Amino acid sequence: MNRKWWHDKVAYQIYPKSFYDSNGDGIGDIPGIISKLDYLANLGVDILWLSPCYQSPLADQGYDISDYYNIDSRFGTMEDMEQLIAEASKRNMYILMDLVVNHCSDEHEWFQKACEDPEGKYGKYFYLMDKKEGKFPTNWRSYFGGPAWDDLPGTDKQYLHVFHKKQPDLNWENPEVREEIYKNINWWLDKGLGGFRIDAIINIKKALPFHDYEPDRSDNLCSMNVMLQEAKGIGAFLREMRDRTFKKYDAFAVGEVFNEKPEEIPEFIGDDGYFSSMFDFNEAIFGSSEKGWYDAMPITPDDYKKCCFDAQAKVGDIGFLSNIIENHDEPRGVSRYIPDGDCCIESKKMLAALNFMLRGLPFIYQGQELGMENVPITSINEVDDISTHDEYRVALEAGISPDEALKVVSKYSRDNARTPMQWTDEANAGFTTGTPWLKVNPNYTSINAAMQMKDEDSVYSFYKKLIALRKNPIYKETIVYGTLEPVWAEQHNLMAYYRKGEQTLLVVGNYQRGAQEIKLPTSYKKVLLNNYHDMAEENGTVRLYGYQVLVLEMCM
Ligand code: GLC
Ligand code: CA
Repeated sequence: MNRKWWHDKVAYQIYPKSFYDSNGDGIGDIPGIISKLDYLANLGVDILWLSPCYQSPLADQGYDISDYYNIDSRFGTMEDMEQLIAEASKRNMYILMDLVVNHCSDEHEWFQKACEDPEGKYGKYFYLMDKKEGKFPTNWRSYFGGPAWDDLPGTDKQYLHVFHKKQPDLNWENPEVREEIYKNINWWLDKGLGGFRIDAIINIKKALPFHDYEPDRSDNLCSMNVMLQEAKGIGAFLREMRDRTFKKYDAFAVGEVFNEKPEEIPEFIGDDGYFSSMFDFNEAIFGSSEKGWYDAMPITPDDYKKCCFDAQAKVGDIGFLSNIIENHDEPRGVSRYIPDGDCCIESKKMLAALNFMLRGLPFIYQGQELGMENVPITSINEVDDISTHDEYRVALEAGISPDEALKVVSKYSRDNARTPMQWTDEANAGFTTGTPWLKVNPNYTSINAAMQMKDEDSVYSFYKKLIALRKNPIYKETIVYGTLEPVWAEQHNLMAYYRKGEQTLLVVGNYQRGAQEIKLPTSYKKVLLNNYHDMAEENGTVRLYGYQVLVLEMCM
Protein backbone atom coordinates (compact mmCIF):
# COMPACT_ATOMS: atom_id res chain seq x y z
CA MET A 1 0.00 0.00 0.00
CA ASN A 2 1.38 3.41 -0.97
CA ARG A 3 1.69 5.87 1.86
CA LYS A 4 -0.56 8.92 1.83
CA TRP A 5 -0.76 12.16 3.76
CA TRP A 6 -4.01 11.23 5.50
CA HIS A 7 -2.96 7.88 6.92
CA ASP A 8 -1.54 9.15 10.20
CA LYS A 9 -4.36 11.64 10.80
CA VAL A 10 -7.36 11.61 13.10
CA ALA A 11 -10.68 12.72 11.64
CA TYR A 12 -13.67 14.35 13.32
CA GLN A 13 -17.17 14.69 11.93
CA ILE A 14 -19.11 17.89 12.52
CA TYR A 15 -22.85 18.06 12.09
CA PRO A 16 -22.99 21.83 11.62
CA LYS A 17 -26.62 22.29 12.59
CA SER A 18 -25.94 20.87 16.05
CA PHE A 19 -22.35 21.86 16.74
CA TYR A 20 -22.30 25.45 17.94
CA ASP A 21 -24.68 28.35 17.34
CA SER A 22 -22.90 31.70 17.16
CA ASN A 23 -25.90 34.01 16.69
CA GLY A 24 -28.65 32.69 18.92
CA ASP A 25 -31.05 31.48 16.21
CA GLY A 26 -30.91 27.94 17.59
CA ILE A 27 -29.04 26.56 14.56
CA GLY A 28 -25.37 25.71 14.62
CA ASP A 29 -23.32 27.56 12.01
CA ILE A 30 -19.92 27.97 10.39
CA PRO A 31 -18.82 30.93 12.56
CA GLY A 32 -19.68 28.61 15.46
CA ILE A 33 -17.34 25.96 14.06
CA ILE A 34 -14.58 28.54 13.61
CA SER A 35 -14.93 29.56 17.25
CA LYS A 36 -14.42 25.94 18.29
CA LEU A 37 -11.38 25.19 16.13
CA ASP A 38 -9.09 25.59 19.11
CA TYR A 39 -11.15 23.05 21.02
CA LEU A 40 -10.67 20.62 18.14
CA ALA A 41 -6.99 21.38 17.70
CA ASN A 42 -6.52 20.87 21.42
CA LEU A 43 -8.20 17.49 21.22
CA GLY A 44 -5.69 16.65 18.51
CA VAL A 45 -7.87 16.01 15.46
CA ASP A 46 -6.65 17.10 12.02
CA ILE A 47 -9.32 16.30 9.45
CA LEU A 48 -12.77 17.81 9.87
CA TRP A 49 -15.66 16.39 7.87
CA LEU A 50 -18.62 18.77 7.73
CA SER A 51 -22.03 17.35 6.99
CA PRO A 52 -23.63 19.46 4.23
CA CYS A 53 -24.01 23.18 4.72
CA TYR A 54 -24.79 24.07 1.09
CA GLN A 55 -27.98 25.89 0.22
CA SER A 56 -30.80 23.51 0.97
CA PRO A 57 -34.44 23.30 2.05
CA LEU A 58 -33.12 20.92 4.75
CA ALA A 59 -35.78 18.29 4.01
CA ASP A 60 -33.09 15.71 4.80
CA GLN A 61 -31.00 18.14 6.85
CA GLY A 62 -28.87 19.38 3.98
CA TYR A 63 -28.52 16.09 2.10
CA ASP A 64 -30.88 17.74 -0.37
CA ILE A 65 -28.87 20.47 -2.07
CA SER A 66 -30.52 23.26 -4.05
CA ASP A 67 -27.29 25.09 -4.91
CA TYR A 68 -23.90 23.39 -4.87
CA TYR A 69 -22.09 26.74 -5.13
CA ASN A 70 -23.63 28.42 -2.12
CA ILE A 71 -23.71 28.11 1.63
CA ASP A 72 -27.15 28.07 3.22
CA SER A 73 -27.69 31.38 4.99
CA ARG A 74 -28.69 29.52 8.15
CA PHE A 75 -25.14 28.17 8.30
CA GLY A 76 -23.37 31.36 7.24
CA THR A 77 -21.85 32.77 4.07
CA MET A 78 -19.27 31.72 1.52
CA GLU A 79 -16.84 34.11 3.26
CA ASP A 80 -17.40 32.19 6.49
CA MET A 81 -16.62 28.96 4.68
CA GLU A 82 -13.45 30.43 3.18
CA GLN A 83 -12.45 31.70 6.58
CA LEU A 84 -13.04 28.28 8.09
CA ILE A 85 -10.75 26.68 5.50
CA ALA A 86 -8.09 29.31 6.16
CA GLU A 87 -8.35 29.11 9.95
CA ALA A 88 -8.23 25.33 9.82
CA SER A 89 -5.17 25.48 7.62
CA LYS A 90 -3.40 27.75 10.14
CA ARG A 91 -3.84 24.91 12.62
CA ASN A 92 -2.69 22.27 10.11
CA MET A 93 -6.22 21.00 9.81
CA TYR A 94 -8.05 19.96 6.66
CA ILE A 95 -11.69 20.48 5.83
CA LEU A 96 -13.74 17.82 4.07
CA MET A 97 -17.13 18.71 2.70
CA ASP A 98 -19.92 16.25 2.10
CA LEU A 99 -20.36 15.40 -1.56
CA VAL A 100 -24.02 14.64 -2.21
CA VAL A 101 -24.31 13.85 -5.89
CA ASN A 102 -26.56 10.84 -6.16
CA HIS A 103 -29.40 13.33 -5.94
CA CYS A 104 -30.02 17.04 -5.53
CA SER A 105 -33.02 18.87 -4.10
CA ASP A 106 -36.31 19.24 -5.92
CA GLU A 107 -35.70 22.96 -5.34
CA HIS A 108 -32.52 22.88 -7.42
CA GLU A 109 -32.70 24.91 -10.62
CA TRP A 110 -32.08 21.77 -12.70
CA PHE A 111 -35.15 20.09 -11.33
CA GLN A 112 -37.27 23.21 -11.71
CA LYS A 113 -36.24 23.41 -15.35
CA ALA A 114 -36.95 19.72 -15.84
CA CYS A 115 -40.49 20.34 -14.63
CA GLU A 116 -40.87 23.20 -17.09
CA ASP A 117 -39.59 21.18 -20.01
CA PRO A 118 -39.23 17.46 -19.33
CA GLU A 119 -38.19 16.76 -22.93
CA GLY A 120 -35.45 19.38 -22.83
CA LYS A 121 -31.87 19.44 -21.60
CA TYR A 122 -32.71 19.27 -17.89
CA GLY A 123 -35.23 16.48 -18.26
CA LYS A 124 -32.22 14.33 -19.06
CA TYR A 125 -30.57 15.31 -15.75
CA PHE A 126 -33.03 13.07 -13.93
CA TYR A 127 -34.67 9.69 -14.36
CA LEU A 128 -38.07 10.47 -15.81
CA MET A 129 -40.67 7.97 -16.95
CA ASP A 130 -44.15 8.36 -18.38
CA LYS A 131 -46.82 8.22 -15.75
CA LYS A 132 -49.15 5.25 -16.01
CA GLU A 133 -52.42 4.99 -14.15
CA GLY A 134 -52.35 2.62 -11.22
CA LYS A 135 -48.72 1.59 -11.60
CA PHE A 136 -45.37 3.10 -10.80
CA PRO A 137 -42.56 2.70 -13.35
CA THR A 138 -40.98 0.18 -10.96
CA ASN A 139 -41.88 -1.29 -7.60
CA TRP A 140 -38.77 -0.04 -5.76
CA ARG A 141 -39.14 1.14 -2.19
CA SER A 142 -37.33 4.37 -1.38
CA TYR A 143 -34.99 4.27 1.60
CA PHE A 144 -37.24 6.63 3.50
CA GLY A 145 -40.38 4.62 2.77
CA GLY A 146 -43.04 4.43 0.07
CA PRO A 147 -42.52 4.11 -3.68
CA ALA A 148 -39.36 5.60 -5.18
CA TRP A 149 -41.39 7.49 -7.80
CA ASP A 150 -43.40 10.68 -7.63
CA ASP A 151 -45.20 12.89 -10.11
CA LEU A 152 -43.02 15.42 -11.84
CA PRO A 153 -45.04 18.56 -11.06
CA GLY A 154 -46.89 20.04 -13.99
CA THR A 155 -46.12 17.13 -16.35
CA ASP A 156 -47.38 13.65 -17.22
CA LYS A 157 -44.13 12.12 -15.99
CA GLN A 158 -42.73 10.64 -12.83
CA TYR A 159 -39.22 10.97 -11.45
CA LEU A 160 -37.07 8.59 -9.47
CA HIS A 161 -35.96 9.31 -5.92
CA VAL A 162 -34.25 6.48 -4.07
CA PHE A 163 -34.31 8.65 -0.94
CA HIS A 164 -36.95 11.25 -0.05
CA LYS A 165 -39.26 12.72 -2.68
CA LYS A 166 -37.44 16.01 -2.19
CA GLN A 167 -34.24 14.28 -3.33
CA PRO A 168 -34.60 13.49 -7.05
CA ASP A 169 -31.85 11.18 -8.37
CA LEU A 170 -29.39 12.67 -10.82
CA ASN A 171 -28.92 10.73 -14.02
CA TRP A 172 -25.27 9.72 -14.00
CA GLU A 173 -25.67 8.07 -17.39
CA ASN A 174 -25.84 11.58 -18.84
CA PRO A 175 -22.28 12.86 -19.46
CA GLU A 176 -23.47 16.45 -18.99
CA VAL A 177 -24.52 15.69 -15.45
CA ARG A 178 -21.15 14.17 -14.70
CA GLU A 179 -19.40 17.24 -16.15
CA GLU A 180 -21.43 19.49 -13.87
CA ILE A 181 -20.50 17.39 -10.86
CA TYR A 182 -16.77 17.34 -11.64
CA LYS A 183 -16.81 21.07 -12.25
CA ASN A 184 -18.32 21.61 -8.84
CA ILE A 185 -15.91 19.27 -7.06
CA ASN A 186 -12.91 21.02 -8.60
CA TRP A 187 -14.35 24.43 -7.82
CA TRP A 188 -14.43 23.46 -4.16
CA LEU A 189 -11.03 21.80 -4.22
CA ASP A 190 -9.63 25.02 -5.70
CA LYS A 191 -10.82 26.74 -2.54
CA GLY A 192 -8.41 24.61 -0.57
CA LEU A 193 -10.53 21.75 0.72
CA GLY A 194 -8.72 18.63 1.88
CA GLY A 195 -11.29 16.48 0.16
CA PHE A 196 -14.76 15.00 0.49
CA ARG A 197 -16.86 12.45 2.23
CA ILE A 198 -18.90 10.91 -0.54
CA ASP A 199 -22.53 10.39 0.24
CA ALA A 200 -24.67 7.44 -0.81
CA ILE A 201 -22.39 6.85 -3.76
CA ILE A 202 -23.31 3.23 -4.32
CA ASN A 203 -26.67 4.40 -5.63
CA ILE A 204 -25.40 6.28 -8.67
CA LYS A 205 -25.44 3.22 -10.91
CA LYS A 206 -28.90 1.84 -11.57
CA ALA A 207 -29.71 -1.47 -13.22
CA LEU A 208 -30.94 -0.64 -16.70
CA PRO A 209 -33.45 -1.04 -18.19
CA PHE A 210 -35.58 -0.45 -15.10
CA HIS A 211 -37.80 -3.31 -14.06
CA ASP A 212 -39.71 -4.73 -11.11
CA TYR A 213 -38.33 -7.20 -8.59
CA GLU A 214 -39.96 -9.66 -6.24
CA PRO A 215 -41.86 -7.67 -3.57
CA ASP A 216 -40.51 -8.26 -0.05
CA ARG A 217 -43.14 -6.60 2.16
CA SER A 218 -46.91 -6.33 2.17
CA ASP A 219 -46.61 -2.93 0.46
CA ASN A 220 -45.74 -4.90 -2.72
CA LEU A 221 -42.49 -3.00 -3.08
CA CYS A 222 -38.93 -4.29 -3.02
CA SER A 223 -35.79 -3.12 -1.30
CA MET A 224 -33.51 -0.87 -3.33
CA ASN A 225 -30.64 -3.24 -2.56
CA VAL A 226 -32.01 -5.84 -4.95
CA MET A 227 -31.79 -3.43 -7.86
CA LEU A 228 -28.34 -2.23 -6.79
CA GLN A 229 -27.05 -5.80 -6.63
CA GLU A 230 -27.97 -6.16 -10.27
CA ALA A 231 -26.47 -2.82 -11.38
CA LYS A 232 -23.10 -3.35 -13.04
CA GLY A 233 -20.51 -0.84 -14.11
CA ILE A 234 -20.32 1.71 -11.32
CA GLY A 235 -16.52 1.50 -11.64
CA ALA A 236 -16.47 3.48 -14.87
CA PHE A 237 -18.25 6.42 -13.19
CA LEU A 238 -16.10 6.30 -10.08
CA ARG A 239 -12.84 6.01 -11.99
CA GLU A 240 -13.76 8.94 -14.17
CA MET A 241 -14.73 11.04 -11.15
CA ARG A 242 -11.47 10.22 -9.40
CA ASP A 243 -9.33 11.02 -12.43
CA ARG A 244 -11.10 14.24 -13.22
CA THR A 245 -11.12 15.54 -9.64
CA PHE A 246 -9.56 14.08 -6.47
CA LYS A 247 -6.53 12.56 -8.11
CA LYS A 248 -5.35 15.85 -9.57
CA TYR A 249 -5.40 17.44 -6.13
CA ASP A 250 -4.19 14.48 -4.07
CA ALA A 251 -7.41 15.06 -2.16
CA PHE A 252 -8.78 12.70 0.45
CA ALA A 253 -12.03 11.03 -0.58
CA VAL A 254 -13.85 8.69 1.76
CA GLY A 255 -16.79 6.76 0.38
CA GLU A 256 -20.03 5.87 2.07
CA VAL A 257 -19.95 2.36 0.67
CA PHE A 258 -22.32 -0.41 1.71
CA ASN A 259 -22.54 -4.04 0.68
CA GLU A 260 -19.25 -4.18 -1.18
CA LYS A 261 -18.06 -7.65 -2.10
CA PRO A 262 -14.60 -8.77 -0.89
CA GLU A 263 -13.29 -8.90 -4.46
CA GLU A 264 -14.26 -5.24 -4.95
CA ILE A 265 -12.04 -3.91 -2.14
CA PRO A 266 -8.95 -3.37 -4.32
CA GLU A 267 -11.01 -1.44 -6.90
CA PHE A 268 -12.53 0.73 -4.19
CA ILE A 269 -9.61 1.49 -1.91
CA GLY A 270 -6.54 -0.25 -3.32
CA ASP A 271 -3.54 1.81 -4.45
CA ASP A 272 -5.35 2.80 -7.61
CA GLY A 273 -8.79 2.72 -6.00
CA TYR A 274 -11.74 5.01 -6.63
CA PHE A 275 -11.52 6.36 -3.07
CA SER A 276 -8.81 7.05 -0.52
CA SER A 277 -10.80 5.13 2.06
CA MET A 278 -14.25 3.90 2.87
CA PHE A 279 -16.15 3.49 6.10
CA ASP A 280 -16.42 0.19 7.86
CA PHE A 281 -20.15 -0.21 8.50
CA ASN A 282 -19.95 -3.86 9.53
CA GLU A 283 -20.86 -3.12 13.14
CA ALA A 284 -23.50 -0.55 12.25
CA ILE A 285 -25.40 -2.84 9.90
CA PHE A 286 -25.13 -5.93 12.06
CA GLY A 287 -28.54 -7.34 12.87
CA SER A 288 -30.40 -4.98 10.55
CA SER A 289 -33.45 -6.41 8.86
CA GLU A 290 -35.05 -5.76 5.49
CA LYS A 291 -38.34 -5.60 7.37
CA GLY A 292 -37.35 -2.48 9.30
CA TRP A 293 -35.91 -1.34 12.59
CA TYR A 294 -38.57 -3.17 14.59
CA ASP A 295 -37.13 -6.47 13.40
CA ALA A 296 -33.46 -5.66 14.03
CA MET A 297 -31.37 -7.90 16.23
CA PRO A 298 -29.28 -6.27 18.95
CA ILE A 299 -25.52 -6.69 18.79
CA THR A 300 -23.55 -8.50 21.51
CA PRO A 301 -19.91 -7.89 22.46
CA ASP A 302 -18.91 -11.09 20.64
CA ASP A 303 -20.73 -9.93 17.50
CA TYR A 304 -19.07 -6.54 17.74
CA LYS A 305 -15.65 -8.13 17.91
CA LYS A 306 -16.38 -10.40 14.97
CA CYS A 307 -17.66 -7.51 12.83
CA CYS A 308 -14.48 -5.49 13.46
CA PHE A 309 -12.18 -8.42 12.81
CA ASP A 310 -14.01 -9.48 9.66
CA ALA A 311 -13.74 -5.97 8.23
CA GLN A 312 -10.06 -5.80 9.11
CA ALA A 313 -9.34 -9.20 7.56
CA LYS A 314 -11.25 -8.32 4.40
CA VAL A 315 -9.17 -5.19 3.82
CA GLY A 316 -5.82 -6.34 5.23
CA ASP A 317 -3.02 -4.41 3.58
CA ILE A 318 -4.99 -3.66 0.41
CA GLY A 319 -6.11 -0.26 1.61
CA PHE A 320 -7.09 1.90 4.53
CA LEU A 321 -10.48 1.69 6.22
CA SER A 322 -12.17 4.55 8.04
CA ASN A 323 -13.35 3.36 11.43
CA ILE A 324 -16.35 4.81 13.20
CA ILE A 325 -18.35 4.16 16.35
CA GLU A 326 -21.19 6.38 15.19
CA ASN A 327 -22.15 9.11 12.74
CA HIS A 328 -25.11 11.37 12.04
CA ASP A 329 -27.13 8.42 10.68
CA GLU A 330 -26.63 6.11 13.63
CA PRO A 331 -27.58 6.06 17.28
CA ARG A 332 -24.84 6.89 19.77
CA GLY A 333 -22.28 4.07 19.81
CA VAL A 334 -22.04 3.89 23.59
CA SER A 335 -25.80 3.31 23.80
CA ARG A 336 -25.71 0.71 21.08
CA TYR A 337 -22.53 -1.33 21.56
CA ILE A 338 -22.40 -1.40 25.35
CA PRO A 339 -24.85 -3.88 26.88
CA ASP A 340 -27.93 -2.35 28.54
CA GLY A 341 -27.30 -0.98 31.99
CA ASP A 342 -23.52 -1.02 31.61
CA CYS A 343 -22.96 2.31 29.90
CA CYS A 344 -20.45 4.05 32.18
CA ILE A 345 -17.16 5.93 31.95
CA GLU A 346 -15.07 2.74 31.92
CA SER A 347 -17.11 0.98 29.24
CA LYS A 348 -17.16 4.11 27.08
CA LYS A 349 -13.38 4.30 27.25
CA MET A 350 -13.07 0.61 26.46
CA LEU A 351 -15.18 0.96 23.34
CA ALA A 352 -13.18 4.02 22.35
CA ALA A 353 -9.82 2.25 22.62
CA LEU A 354 -10.94 -0.96 20.92
CA ASN A 355 -12.19 0.97 17.93
CA PHE A 356 -9.54 3.66 17.81
CA MET A 357 -6.60 1.23 17.82
CA LEU A 358 -7.86 -0.74 14.81
CA ARG A 359 -5.92 -0.36 11.61
CA GLY A 360 -7.31 2.53 9.59
CA LEU A 361 -8.29 6.14 9.96
CA PRO A 362 -10.26 6.84 13.16
CA PHE A 363 -13.26 9.15 12.78
CA ILE A 364 -14.76 10.71 15.88
CA TYR A 365 -18.31 12.00 15.61
CA GLN A 366 -19.03 15.22 17.52
CA GLY A 367 -19.79 14.47 21.15
CA GLN A 368 -18.40 10.95 20.92
CA GLU A 369 -15.30 12.28 22.68
CA LEU A 370 -17.58 13.15 25.62
CA GLY A 371 -19.37 9.83 25.62
CA MET A 372 -22.66 11.44 24.57
CA GLU A 373 -25.57 9.00 24.79
CA ASN A 374 -28.90 8.39 23.06
CA VAL A 375 -31.64 10.88 23.93
CA PRO A 376 -34.83 9.71 25.63
CA ILE A 377 -37.65 10.11 23.09
CA THR A 378 -41.03 10.36 24.79
CA SER A 379 -43.28 10.99 21.81
CA ILE A 380 -42.99 10.55 18.05
CA ASN A 381 -43.98 14.22 17.73
CA GLU A 382 -40.61 15.21 19.17
CA VAL A 383 -38.78 13.48 16.37
CA ASP A 384 -37.30 15.48 13.52
CA ASP A 385 -35.65 12.79 11.37
CA ILE A 386 -37.69 11.68 8.34
CA SER A 387 -36.35 8.17 8.47
CA THR A 388 -37.46 7.71 12.09
CA HIS A 389 -41.00 8.73 11.18
CA ASP A 390 -41.02 6.18 8.40
CA GLU A 391 -39.71 3.38 10.61
CA TYR A 392 -42.31 4.22 13.25
CA ARG A 393 -45.04 3.84 10.66
CA VAL A 394 -43.52 0.59 9.39
CA ALA A 395 -43.46 -0.80 12.93
CA LEU A 396 -47.10 0.14 13.54
CA GLU A 397 -48.13 -1.41 10.24
CA ALA A 398 -46.40 -4.61 11.26
CA GLY A 399 -48.70 -4.75 14.28
CA ILE A 400 -46.29 -3.43 16.91
CA SER A 401 -47.99 -1.40 19.66
CA PRO A 402 -47.36 2.37 19.68
CA ASP A 403 -45.39 2.07 22.94
CA GLU A 404 -43.17 -0.66 21.56
CA ALA A 405 -42.78 1.15 18.23
CA LEU A 406 -41.58 4.24 20.07
CA LYS A 407 -39.06 2.15 21.98
CA VAL A 408 -37.78 0.64 18.77
CA VAL A 409 -37.33 3.93 16.97
CA SER A 410 -35.77 5.56 20.05
CA LYS A 411 -33.07 2.96 19.89
CA TYR A 412 -32.15 3.58 16.27
CA SER A 413 -33.29 7.14 15.57
CA ARG A 414 -30.86 9.38 13.74
CA ASP A 415 -31.94 12.15 16.12
CA ASN A 416 -29.89 10.42 18.82
CA ALA A 417 -26.73 11.65 17.15
CA ARG A 418 -28.19 14.99 16.11
CA THR A 419 -29.05 16.52 19.47
CA PRO A 420 -26.95 19.63 20.15
CA MET A 421 -23.35 19.23 21.22
CA GLN A 422 -23.01 19.43 24.99
CA TRP A 423 -20.51 22.18 25.70
CA THR A 424 -21.32 23.25 29.26
CA ASP A 425 -23.81 22.70 32.08
CA GLU A 426 -25.47 26.04 31.35
CA ALA A 427 -28.84 26.47 29.62
CA ASN A 428 -29.13 24.47 26.36
CA ALA A 429 -25.79 22.85 27.13
CA GLY A 430 -24.12 26.09 26.04
CA PHE A 431 -24.99 25.26 22.43
CA THR A 432 -27.16 28.31 21.85
CA THR A 433 -28.49 31.34 23.67
CA GLY A 434 -31.75 30.90 21.74
CA THR A 435 -34.05 27.91 21.36
CA PRO A 436 -32.22 24.89 19.98
CA TRP A 437 -33.68 23.46 16.75
CA LEU A 438 -33.68 20.01 18.34
CA LYS A 439 -34.10 19.17 22.01
CA VAL A 440 -30.89 19.00 24.04
CA ASN A 441 -30.23 15.69 25.78
CA PRO A 442 -31.23 16.33 29.41
CA ASN A 443 -28.05 14.62 30.65
CA TYR A 444 -25.94 17.64 29.61
CA THR A 445 -25.54 18.70 33.23
CA SER A 446 -23.39 15.62 33.83
CA ILE A 447 -21.99 15.07 30.32
CA ASN A 448 -20.40 18.18 28.84
CA ALA A 449 -17.11 19.37 27.43
CA ALA A 450 -16.34 22.04 30.04
CA MET A 451 -16.45 19.59 32.93
CA GLN A 452 -14.60 16.85 31.09
CA MET A 453 -11.78 19.09 29.95
CA LYS A 454 -10.93 19.78 33.58
CA ASP A 455 -11.09 16.13 34.56
CA GLU A 456 -8.04 13.91 33.92
CA ASP A 457 -10.24 10.81 34.15
CA SER A 458 -13.00 11.89 31.78
CA VAL A 459 -13.92 10.24 28.51
CA TYR A 460 -12.68 13.38 26.79
CA SER A 461 -9.25 13.11 28.43
CA PHE A 462 -9.09 9.46 27.43
CA TYR A 463 -9.77 10.32 23.77
CA LYS A 464 -7.04 12.92 24.03
CA LYS A 465 -4.65 10.25 25.25
CA LEU A 466 -5.67 7.89 22.46
CA ILE A 467 -5.01 10.60 19.88
CA ALA A 468 -1.70 11.52 21.48
CA LEU A 469 -0.66 7.87 21.41
CA ARG A 470 -1.43 7.58 17.70
CA LYS A 471 0.71 10.65 17.11
CA ASN A 472 3.55 9.67 19.40
CA PRO A 473 6.58 9.41 17.07
CA ILE A 474 7.71 6.23 18.82
CA TYR A 475 4.47 4.30 18.21
CA LYS A 476 3.01 6.04 15.20
CA GLU A 477 4.49 3.68 12.61
CA THR A 478 3.07 0.63 14.38
CA ILE A 479 -0.33 2.15 15.08
CA VAL A 480 -0.81 3.55 11.59
CA TYR A 481 0.75 0.83 9.45
CA GLY A 482 1.24 -2.21 11.70
CA THR A 483 -0.69 -5.39 10.96
CA LEU A 484 -3.66 -6.42 13.05
CA GLU A 485 -3.85 -9.93 14.47
CA PRO A 486 -6.74 -11.05 16.64
CA VAL A 487 -5.79 -12.75 19.91
CA TRP A 488 -8.00 -15.13 21.96
CA ALA A 489 -10.67 -14.55 19.35
CA GLU A 490 -12.86 -17.28 20.86
CA GLN A 491 -12.78 -15.95 24.43
CA HIS A 492 -16.28 -14.78 25.35
CA ASN A 493 -16.75 -11.05 25.98
CA LEU A 494 -13.12 -10.32 25.35
CA MET A 495 -11.79 -8.38 22.41
CA ALA A 496 -8.04 -8.42 21.92
CA TYR A 497 -5.61 -7.91 19.09
CA TYR A 498 -1.99 -7.27 18.34
CA ARG A 499 -0.78 -4.37 16.30
CA LYS A 500 2.60 -5.42 14.98
CA GLY A 501 5.14 -3.16 13.35
CA GLU A 502 8.21 -1.62 14.90
CA GLN A 503 6.81 -2.83 18.20
CA THR A 504 4.22 -5.34 19.22
CA LEU A 505 1.27 -3.71 20.94
CA LEU A 506 -1.47 -5.71 22.61
CA VAL A 507 -4.89 -4.08 22.79
CA VAL A 508 -7.23 -5.95 25.11
CA GLY A 509 -10.69 -5.07 26.37
CA ASN A 510 -12.80 -6.94 28.89
CA TYR A 511 -16.18 -6.42 27.26
CA GLN A 512 -18.32 -7.23 30.31
CA ARG A 513 -19.15 -6.11 33.83
CA GLY A 514 -17.44 -9.00 35.60
CA ALA A 515 -13.71 -9.50 35.82
CA GLN A 516 -11.91 -12.02 33.60
CA GLU A 517 -8.39 -13.31 33.28
CA ILE A 518 -5.93 -13.52 30.46
CA LYS A 519 -2.50 -15.09 30.38
CA LEU A 520 -0.04 -12.81 28.61
CA PRO A 521 1.85 -14.71 25.90
CA THR A 522 5.07 -12.77 26.66
CA SER A 523 5.98 -10.24 29.27
CA TYR A 524 5.27 -6.58 28.63
CA LYS A 525 7.52 -3.55 28.65
CA LYS A 526 5.09 -0.79 29.26
CA VAL A 527 1.44 0.04 29.84
CA LEU A 528 0.65 2.63 27.20
CA LEU A 529 -2.99 3.07 28.10
CA ASN A 530 -5.29 1.88 30.87
CA ASN A 531 -8.79 3.05 31.74
CA TYR A 532 -8.22 2.10 35.38
CA HIS A 533 -5.55 3.39 37.72
CA ASP A 534 -3.98 -0.01 38.14
CA MET A 535 -3.58 -3.37 36.51
CA ALA A 536 -3.91 -6.59 38.52
CA GLU A 537 -1.07 -8.75 37.22
CA GLU A 538 0.67 -11.71 38.79
CA ASN A 539 3.18 -13.95 36.97
CA GLY A 540 1.88 -12.96 33.59
CA THR A 541 -1.77 -13.45 34.43
CA VAL A 542 -3.84 -10.29 34.27
CA ARG A 543 -7.15 -10.09 36.04
CA LEU A 544 -9.02 -7.53 33.99
CA TYR A 545 -11.61 -5.45 35.81
CA GLY A 546 -15.06 -4.96 34.34
CA TYR A 547 -14.71 -3.09 31.03
CA GLN A 548 -11.03 -2.60 31.56
CA VAL A 549 -9.05 -1.85 28.44
CA LEU A 550 -5.27 -1.94 28.13
CA VAL A 551 -2.77 -1.09 25.48
CA LEU A 552 0.49 -2.83 26.32
CA GLU A 553 3.80 -2.70 24.60
CA MET A 554 4.99 -6.30 24.64
CA CYS A 555 8.50 -7.72 24.75
CA MET A 556 8.91 -9.12 21.27
C1 GLC B 1 -26.40 9.29 3.39
C2 GLC B 1 -26.36 10.33 4.49
C3 GLC B 1 -27.73 10.45 5.10
C4 GLC B 1 -28.69 10.88 4.02
C5 GLC B 1 -28.61 9.99 2.78
C6 GLC B 1 -29.24 10.65 1.61
O1 GLC B 1 -26.68 8.03 3.85
O2 GLC B 1 -25.39 10.01 5.43
O3 GLC B 1 -27.76 11.32 6.18
O4 GLC B 1 -29.98 10.87 4.53
O5 GLC B 1 -27.30 9.69 2.41
O6 GLC B 1 -28.44 11.69 1.14
CA1 CA C 1 -26.90 30.13 14.11
